[in-house]
Amino acid sequence: MQNAIYNAYFGFAENPFNISPDPEFLYRSPQHEEALANLIYGVRSRKGFIVLTGEVGTGKTTMLECLRDYLDAQRIEFAFIFNSRLTPEQFFEMMAYDFDLRCDRKSKTDVLFALDTLLVEQTQRGRTCVLIVDEAHNLSWDVLEEIRLLGNLENRQGKLLQIILAGQPELDRKLDAPDLRQLKQRIVQRCSLNPLAPEEATAYIETRLARAGMPNQTVFSSEVMEELYKRSRGIPRLINLLSDNLLVTTFAMEERRSTVAMLDEVCQDLRLEWPGSNRDRRGRSRYRSSEEHMPEASVPISGD
Ligand SMILES: Nc1ncnc2c1ncn2[C@@H]1O[C@H](COP(=O)(O)OP(=O)(O)OP(=O)(O)O)[C@@H](O)[C@H]1O
Ligand SMILES: [Mg+2]
Repeated sequence: MQNAIYNAYFGFAENPFNISPDPEFLYRSPQHEEALANLIYGVRSRKGFIVLTGEVGTGKTTMLECLRDYLDAQRIEFAFIFNSRLTPEQFFEMMAYDFDLRCDRKSKTDVLFALDTLLVEQTQRGRTCVLIVDEAHNLSWDVLEEIRLLGNLENRQGKLLQIILAGQPELDRKLDAPDLRQLKQRIVQRCSLNPLAPEEATAYIETRLARAGMPNQTVFSSEVMEELYKRSRGIPRLINLLSDNLLVTTFAMEERRSTVAMLDEVCQDLRLEWPGSNRDRRGRSRYRSSEEHMPEASVPISGD
C-alpha cells in the first residue's frame, strides 16, 4: 500500500489511504479535535496523568503523532514508548534512550537520577517533560506501578513529568482494578475515540482524497460511500483498507468510478464481516456470541 499502483491513474500525488498514522492526512472530526485539545491542555496544565482510549483503528496513535508534532514545535522534551510489552528494566532503558539520558541506561537508579536532573533543569527553564506510552493496555502491573511512581515527581507548581497513556478500552478496565486506584485518582484528563458517524466517514474519505490530489472526488458515489461506512462501521483503519483495495480494483478494471459490486469483491477477498453480511449471518447461526460483532478480516472457517 505504500506505493499505490493507481496513483498516476487517478492523479494522486500520494497514496490517499496509507495505513500509517500520518498527521499530514489528519481529518479533524469534532472528537479527534477534542482529543487533541485535551492532550495539549493536559500537557500544558502540568497536572499529571492523561488517558486516551479507543477501539482498534480509531486514531489513537494518529492523535499521539499530532501531539508529537506539537511537542517538537514547542521544543518540549518527551519520550514516546510504543512497545508496551516490556519488563520494568526494559521500560527504564527505553525511556532513557528516548529522553537521551546520559547514564548507564541499564541501571534503574542511574536512569532515575538522570531523569530527575532533566526534569528539574527543564522546570527551571519553565518547561515541562512528557512521557507518552502507546498500547498502554498491554503494560504489566509492575510497569504500571513504576509509571505511577514517576507521576509522583512534582514541585510546588505542579507535576514535573506529564504522562499520557493511550490504549484500547481494556486500559480503562485495567485502571479500574483495585490495585491501581492510586494511579486512577491521579488521572486528570480522560478522552476517548469512537468510530466515525456516517457523514464524518464521508468527510474523512473526501479529506484524504483531497489531500492526495483529488479535491472534488468523483470515484466514490454516495451509494458506495454508504456501503463503505456500513462495512467499516466508521473505523478509520478499515475505511482505509477498503478504500485502498477498492481503488486497486477500479484501476485494474480500467474504470473511473468504483461500484458496490467491486466493493463486494474486495470484501470477499479480505474475508470481511460486517453486521448483516452473509458471512456474518452464517457465523451467527453457527457460533453464538453474546459479544457485539465488530467487522474484521476473518480467518476462513473450515468447511466454509
Ligand atoms: N482523524 C484521522 N484523520 C486521518 N486519518 C486517521 C484519523 N484517525 C485514524 N486515521 C487513520 O486510521 C488508521 C488507524 O489509525 P491509528 O493507527 O491511529 O489507530 P489506533 O487507534 O492507534 O489503532 P490501534 O488500536 O490498532 O493501535 C491510520 O491509517 C490513520 O492514518
Ligand atoms: Mg495505535
